Amino acid sequence: MTSRDSYHIPVMLKETLDSFLIDKNGNYLDCTLGGGGHAKAILEIISDKGTLLGVDRDKEAIEQNASLLERYKNFTVANISFANVMRLDSIVFGLKFDGILMDLGVSSHQIDDPKRGFSYMNSGDLDMRMNDEDELSAYIVVNNYTEEQLKEIFYKYGEEKKSRYIARNICNEREESPIKTTKELSDIIGRSVPYKNRIKTLSRIFQAIRIEVNNELGEIEDFLKVSLKILKKHGRVAIMSYHSLEDRIVKRFINEMATGCTCPTDFPKCICGKEPIVKKITKKPIIATEEEIKENPRARSAKLRVFELI
Ligand SMILES: C[S@@+](CC[C@H](N)C(=O)[O-])C[C@H]1O[C@@H](n2cnc3c(N)ncnc32)[C@H](O)[C@@H]1O
Repeated sequence: MTSRDSYHIPVMLKETLDSFLIDKNGNYLDCTLGGGGHAKAILEIISDKGTLLGVDRDKEAIEQNASLLERYKNFTVANISFANVMRLDSIVFGLKFDGILMDLGVSSHQIDDPKRGFSYMNSGDLDMRMNDEDELSAYIVVNNYTEEQLKEIFYKYGEEKKSRYIARNICNEREESPIKTTKELSDIIGRSVPYKNRIKTLSRIFQAIRIEVNNELGEIEDFLKVSLKILKKHGRVAIMSYHSLEDRIVKRFINEMATGCTCPTDFPKCICGKEPIVKKITKKPIIATEEEIKENPRARSAKLRVFELI
């Protein structure tokens, strides 16, 4: 087992806990357990009447939390994707939460381990699956998607302007032989753009493939709807996102759920009957301090938004 900090340093630890941990005797759900940095801090705060359920779709993250599981009897884990939590027995039988945490994206451990194939920095097999039992891998996306499909995901999930050109180059290269490693893919992308844009383009294309492989945006949309069914009244959800595509989904969801009547302003009375379901706790997203960013550059892009069920 890796040490918790080398697995992943938790981002905005104090800010997240302050924002959603409101009752020490409450039930909490950490949807993105990772190295357990946030989970450990939650367990240290809640009483033994409180509970924490930790969820991660990655088996390695679950294994990484074995020592916390041994130490805390009020801690349980589930190896499942968060959009599927309604399938868990405890939830089927009525468990509801006072607070839910989503710390989105990948852990440093997943990025740093070359055999997971998430990074253009180290060469590894093209994989990028958070759950190694999922069928779709980066290899399948890169080698089997049509040029049009590749262009579409690079544009939609990577916001990459040269999507079409990069997609075409990938398709030309794979005619010779399949593209098997992150290094082979990085070289093709690197040859498609001027040297000075190389790193930004690599991050955008790798991010796009990762989002596609793990259906990351669909998972967030589905879970946000689920969260309304499993929160207690006044229960809170804290969501930390790391890029604009994630944050946009979260922001829109909160705005929509926090809005009441949507009738045109010149209607004499409301006919839509829409009531707000949630209250915004953060009017603007909370961001990390300069001090934290210096110590942990990953915190730079983090945005924390919190809402409460009315
Ligand atoms: C940023 S890390 C979380 C780090 C954690 N807060 C900590 O302090 O160590 C994100 C984790 O969420 C997991 N994850 C991402 N999407 C998921 C999903 N849809 N369902 C379950 N787990 C997911 C990843 O496997 C990864 O371990």
